[in-house]
Amino acid sequence: MAAMVQIRDARKVYAGGFEALKGVTLDIEEGEILALLGPNGAGKTTLISCICGISQPTSGSITVGGHDVVTEYRGARSLVGLVPQEVNLEPFEKVWNTVRFTRGVFGRPRDDAHLEDILRRLSLWEKRDAKINELSGGMKRRVLIAKALSHDPSVLFLDEPTAGVDVELRRDMWRIVEDLKASGVTIILTTHYIEEAEAIADRVGVISGGRLLLVEEKAALMTRMGRKELRIDLQEPIGAVPERLSEFDLTLEDEGHTLVYSYDTSAERTGIARLMTEMSEAGLVLRDVRTSQNSLEDIFVGLVHEGDAA
Ligand SMILES: Nc1ncnc2c1ncn2[C@@H]1O[C@H](COP(=O)(O)OP(=O)(O)OP(=O)(O)O)[C@@H](O)[C@H]1O
Ligand SMILES: [Mg+2]
Repeated sequence: MAAMVQIRDARKVYAGGFEALKGVTLDIEEGEILALLGPNGAGKTTLISCICGISQPTSGSITVGGHDVVTEYRGARSLVGLVPQEVNLEPFEKVWNTVRFTRGVFGRPRDDAHLEDILRRLSLWEKRDAKINELSGGMKRRVLIAKALSHDPSVLFLDEPTAGVDVELRRDMWRIVEDLKASGVTIILTTHYIEEAEAIADRVGVISGGRLLLVEEKAALMTRMGRKELRIDLQEPIGAVPERLSEFDLTLEDEGHTLVYSYDTSAERTGIARLMTEMSEAGLVLRDVRTSQNSLEDIFVGLVHEGDAA
């Protein structure tokens, strides 16, 4: 079956001549959660705007559910829900009306029970009669999410949905995203919170300077690129790494109290057992041993730097 979202060599040149997308090709499968990571100005919002039909790619093609976003705009747009990065709400409208209106715009039959459920899940039910300008910033973000969900989209775009919201909403949002995924909704989110991608994404895409540097299963990415560290605290400090341990990737920290061993998580052997034997033969007595793994954040920062250098 064709992918839910198909992007083929999409380029976007803005009116001033700036090329914000330099040929992006990507398939997004039905029911997956894809997190797009990238620094400010990478082209994330531009890409989302092109998929949602808010902006048109200068060349290349994009389809949603098989509908071309330019030539079959209506078919494509009806499948899509968007939580935009910028709050764009009518200040004097009431929460309830705003959300109901959006459902209507998408031509869906009135379903108050469904909208009530959405508002309750976003802790907005008590605020349903409040005007938008009477809400806090985080509450406005919740309204944006409610609007995007109001017409039961098959593909949901969340453009930095949790920027500037409290921990509680972030967790609520993650839970909602999980529920939506379980009901078959395809979700694409951008985020600067790498822990967010780590927590909810199936796949991670890294975009920088208008190019997609990589798209990969999150778990595979973390195994492939992740380096682990074993931190070994010594009973007695040492002045230098002993000669007989020179074949291991070791550094000395903490004024000689800690040996740090870096190893590749994807390597067949970690070398830890041999290191332990060699250490004991070198007369080193261990006090404590801890491991730590590279986070997605370390991987991401490394990639974007490599991309800049290229
Ligand atoms: N309407 C526009 N006209 C001209 N240039 C634009 C326009 N919109 C965006 N750009 C430029 O395109 C580039 C990508 O912007 P975009 O908003 O897609 O980045 P982003 O990855 O979403 O960044 P952020 O993380 O800051 O939201 C930037 O250099 C930006 O200045
Ligand atoms: Mg953006």
